[in-house]
Amino acid sequence: MSIYESILRPLLFALSRRDPEVAHGWALAALRILGKLPFIRSLCAMHYRVSDARLGHSAFGVDFPNPVGLAAGFDKNGDALKGLEALGFGFIELGTVTRHAQPGNPRPRMFRLVEDKALINRMGFNNEGADAVAARLKKLGKLSVPLGISIGKSKITPLEEAAEDYAYSFRALYPYGDYFAVNVSSPNTPGLRTLQAAEELDRILLRLTAEREKLRVELKAPSKSILVKIAPDLDFEAIDAVLKVCAARGAAGIIAVNTTTGREGVKDEEGLRLAEAGCDPAKAGGLSGKPLFQKALDIVRHVRERAPEFAIIAGGGIFTAEDALAMLGAGADLLQIYTGFIYRGPGVARQINRGLLRLIARRHSRGSGNLGPGSPRARG
Ligand SMILES: Cc1cc2nc3c(=O)[nH]c(=O)nc-3n(C[C@H](O)[C@H](O)[C@H](O)COP(=O)(O)O)c2cc1C
Repeated sequence: MSIYESILRPLLFALSRRDPEVAHGWALAALRILGKLPFIRSLCAMHYRVSDARLGHSAFGVDFPNPVGLAAGFDKNGDALKGLEALGFGFIELGTVTRHAQPGNPRPRMFRLVEDKALINRMGFNNEGADAVAARLKKLGKLSVPLGISIGKSKITPLEEAAEDYAYSFRALYPYGDYFAVNVSSPNTPGLRTLQAAEELDRILLRLTAEREKLRVELKAPSKSILVKIAPDLDFEAIDAVLKVCAARGAAGIIAVNTTTGREGVKDEEGLRLAEAGCDPAKAGGLSGKPLFQKALDIVRHVRERAPEFAIIAGGGIFTAEDALAMLGAGADLLQIYTGFIYRGPGVARQINRGLLRLIARRHSRGSGNLGPGSPRARG
């Protein structure tokens, strides 16, 4: 167990018991400070980065130093990227960013289910808006790891105007992202998940690919990949419909998965009661972390089977190298973690990457030296 898990986490959790978002604010503040201290930042990078060619992977035209990324939602505005960069992640996805700045839902809106190693959140895309984030990224310059940018629909924009709303953010942020994630799967913006329906998604992707073509000519920039992030609550038939639209509209892949509105496998009754207190349970937010793992794994396997040509970024309850290996074995190219970062702390990417190398070595000694069908070694 790391110092974070044995000392720091219990303290942080106790001090932010009433509103876990307070601890999130402290973590972001610490990372912002780290970002301003180049010497300490490079010491951290030396400690947390695991440099090994066997972990590297190229997908949708981007080179990733290792497969363990930070999922969207942790750094919504891209203001802690320099600090996060030093924690050894293979890539960072910022956002979700919307066209209009918005405050999100009233607090508390993030809850811990400690017994389950899970979180429930109903943040509601709190962010500073695409123009403000673009201005920050312009100043920041290029990171040492790939940057994904997640875009979503503003709450005030009617669903019929969603495509235009996404296109605005896409255009504003285009120069700064290495890839773009179209978030149509958050449970916390009313109606957003209906945009996963084939016709709606088709309209959005058509608009974004047209915008991308314009930008490619205007900025003389390479064509950047678009991935679609899906909800774990879609059945396989609905996922197949999403895959069909993605293939027809030139999306590069799928991010599987976002948080779930389901509560299967949850044991922590106190946490659940807190999360749903005073709130219509149907609006109580998305569950992430350990209880999501099996569902995410099944979806990744299904997507890989149905769409061998697609890139898959897998997330949902990944905490350990064994979890990571299972996702890669199911067909993922890359991985993302959020809840595992909260529970396991700043060393999580390092621990997973080192664990993966150990597992590769063990397999190698048994005569099978790769991580599985979607692995860096097998696919790269
Ligand atoms: C507090 C919180 C906020 C999140 N915000 C976003 C978001 O803005 N956009 C998004 O695509 N996913 C968001 N997510 C979902 C994560 O990116 C991830 O898909 C999900 O939590 C499953 O992974 P995990 O089990 O490793 O956390 C959020 C998750 C949490 C816990």
